[in-house]
Amino acid sequence: MKTIIEPFRIKVVEPIRPTTREERERYLAEAGHNPFRIRAEHVLIDLLTDSGTGAMSTRQWAGIMEGDESYAGARSFFRFEASVRSVFGHRHVIPAHQGRAAERLLCGAVVQPGDVIPGNTHFDTTRANIEAAGAVALDLPVPEARDPDLILPFKGNIDLDALEAALRAHAGHVPFVLLTVTNNSGGGQPVSLANLRAAREMCDRHGVPLLLDAARFAENAWFIREREPGQEGRAPLDIARDMFACSQGALMSMKKDAFGNIGGLLSLDDDDWAQRVRTALILTEGFVTYGGLAGRDLEALAVGLEEILDPEYLRYRIRSTAYVGERLQAAGVPLLKPFGGHAVYLDGRRFCDHLPDILYPGWSLSLALYVHAGIRACEIGNVMFGRQDPDGTWHWPPLDLVRLAIPRRVYTQSHMDYVVEALVELFAERCSIRGVRFVHRPPVLPHFTAVFEPVQG
Ligand code: F0G
Repeated sequence: MKTIIEPFRIKVVEPIRPTTREERERYLAEAGHNPFRIRAEHVLIDLLTDSGTGAMSTRQWAGIMEGDESYAGARSFFRFEASVRSVFGHRHVIPAHQGRAAERLLCGAVVQPGDVIPGNTHFDTTRANIEAAGAVALDLPVPEARDPDLILPFKGNIDLDALEAALRAHAGHVPFVLLTVTNNSGGGQPVSLANLRAAREMCDRHGVPLLLDAARFAENAWFIREREPGQEGRAPLDIARDMFACSQGALMSMKKDAFGNIGGLLSLDDDDWAQRVRTALILTEGFVTYGGLAGRDLEALAVGLEEILDPEYLRYRIRSTAYVGERLQAAGVPLLKPFGGHAVYLDGRRFCDHLPDILYPGWSLSLALYVHAGIRACEIGNVMFGRQDPDGTWHWPPLDLVRLAIPRRVYTQSHMDYVVEALVELFAERCSIRGVRFVHRPPVLPHFTAVFEPVQG
């Protein structure tokens, strides 16, 4: 059969309700023209993020009932530890309440002011935590990643020549290199095993540990299976183990590829680092066997880590995301190619080519999509990454993207057909999309809480 179906059936449903265009205009104005400030019940299809928004399985819900809520040494922790270790393979497994808690703990423990952390492209909270520790987050994606039309298998790779140069230039001030799999801020593009291995070999020569940001490691493993010579047909678990074998540690937001509604972890080889992280963990997150999570969360995550590597699930996941991309592409909607694993990224600048960067084309597009059809998406572009020099000059990121992130096991094909129809209609009337300007711009992670106003005319 050619049709790839959802490899699950639906046991519990949650109603979603449409709103009128007038209502949405009001909700958006009340939200300061910021999708993060809209009430979720006023959204029909929520593609803001794939993080923590997935549907749990019957086995995960059963695990919830099994949760051992003992303060120390809970059975659920050992179940979690075993599940993580069987995939990641590092010596120390440290739970945290979500990815950014793991980032904060790691940066607090091993990053010094003046350090440099090279990576393929750091996620926004990762960058913010590195900068909060007084260090520089250095993005070194391969140059091809800047061209949204270029179809290459591994646009998430790190630029190895640039990494070599950075390791030389900042010798003694690079506590680790961090590769994000898949590269979320770079369009959900995968990193190849060859690139991981070459990066590890280079890091070894410089005596610098290589860590992975593993939020979407299973989707990355599937892309390796589909695209990397010699990897076809391998079990995703084996590929994932090969990926982690290139690393001396990993951070993970388990709200993505562990089907968690909450959860994160640090997995580390280094005894001293683990010791320092655990000391900090107890101070702010909780005891070392729960790290800010309930025992039931640890159970659900342990099961989720097993389920995510199911080849039938990953085939459906990657194919159903590509389906959205292909239909939009056929209608001429400008997109980042190839399509990501967890999301399709619209090219905001080309969609709204009548809007200059300072009027935030990607952000404006995300607002118009909400007003048009009640769909919430997330800008990953000028608002999130734009920076202003003290002399007033703005620096814009290479791409001003709007991400349609697809929650795991939540929406069906007809939901996505609705999204495609809405975008195709909006593309036809794109000239009517108005730009925005900041009314309030918080200094850190501005997209979450900023307030905007539409620009007239
Ligand atoms: N690293 C990556 C690659 C991420 O995508 C995220 C979160 C984090 C770290 C932080 O994890 O949210 O659990 O604290 N990404 C979400 C997103 C928020 O929408 O892409 P967290």
